[in-house]
Amino acid sequence: MNKQKLYTTFSFFKTAAALSALCVLVLLLMEYLGHPGFLLPGLALISLGFIILSFRIVQLIYRLQLDRVHDTNQVESMQWIYQQFQPKVAFPPMRVIAGSPDFFKVIVEHCIELQPKVIVEAGSGVSSVVISEWLRSVGSDARHYALDHLEKYAKETEEKVVNSNSKILYAPLKNYNLSGSNWQWYDIEELANVDSIDLLIIDGPPEDIQKEARFPALPLLFEKLSDKAVIILDDTNRPDEQSIIKRWKATHQLKEKYLFTEKGTTVLYK
Ligand SMILES: C[S@@+](CC[C@H](N)C(=O)[O-])C[C@H]1O[C@@H](n2cnc3c(N)ncnc32)[C@H](O)[C@@H]1O
Repeated sequence: MNKQKLYTTFSFFKTAAALSALCVLVLLLMEYLGHPGFLLPGLALISLGFIILSFRIVQLIYRLQLDRVHDTNQVESMQWIYQQFQPKVAFPPMRVIAGSPDFFKVIVEHCIELQPKVIVEAGSGVSSVVISEWLRSVGSDARHYALDHLEKYAKETEEKVVNSNSKILYAPLKNYNLSGSNWQWYDIEELANVDSIDLLIIDGPPEDIQKEARFPALPLLFEKLSDKAVIILDDTNRPDEQSIIKRWKATHQLKEKYLFTEKGTTVLYK
C-alpha cells in the first residue's frame, strides 16, 4: 500500500515535471512572439507548485521510514513475547483497531515485574488473550477481568481465552455523572467485588464514543487500585489521551512514563 503510494507520488512528480517543462516552453514562446509579462509570474507559480509537491514527498518518505521502524519493532516484540512463554492458542489479528505487539510487550514486561494478583482491562481483545496465556504459562492464580462494551467482540475474545482465571465481561456502556459532567463508560457492576487492582490496562472504549472517551477509567476505578498499582494507557500519541493524562494528574498524584510504541503507550504509577 505504502509502496504503491510512493510510486503513485513519483509518477505524479514526473508528470508534473513534464507539464511544467511544457509550460515553460509555452511561456518562452509567448515572450519570443511579443507577449511579455507572463514569463515571471508563470515561473513563480510553477516553482511554488514544486515546493509544495517536494514537501509532500518528504512527508511521505518520513512516514514510510517511521512505518519501517514500527514494523521492525512489532516483529521483535512478538519474538520477545514468544521467548517469555509458549501460548497454547493462536493470537487473534493484531494492530489497526486491535493492540500492537509492542503494546503487548509492555504489558507482559509489567506482568513479569509486578506479578499482579488482580488485573483489569478496559477494552478486551488480543491483549486479553496475551495476558490470559501468560498467567496460564506461569501457573499464576491472579484474577484477570477484561471489559468490553460490544457483545460480539466480548464473545470472540472469550472463545480464545482458555484460562479459567480470566473473565471477559460484556459491559455495555452506561451513563455516569462525574464532577457535574455526563460520561459514558463500561458498566462496572460486575467489578463490584473486585478491588486491589495491581494492573489496570486502558485500551477502550474507542475514541468515537465521545471526546476523551477513556477519561472515566480513573475516576471510576481509582478507589479499587492497590498501593503498588500500575496503569497502562494505550493510544497516547492522540491529543485526547494526552489531555486525559493531564486531567488525571491534576487530581491524582501520578508519575508518568511515555514509551515509544506504535500508538504511544504511557505507564502511570501511583
Ligand atoms: C482498541 S480495541 C481493544 C483492543 C484490545 N485491548 C486488544 O488488544 O485487541 C477497543 C474496542 O474496540 C472494539 N473492537 C475490537 N475489534 C474491532 C473491530 N474489528 N471493529 C470495530 N471495533 C472493534 C472492541 O469492542 C474493543 O473493546
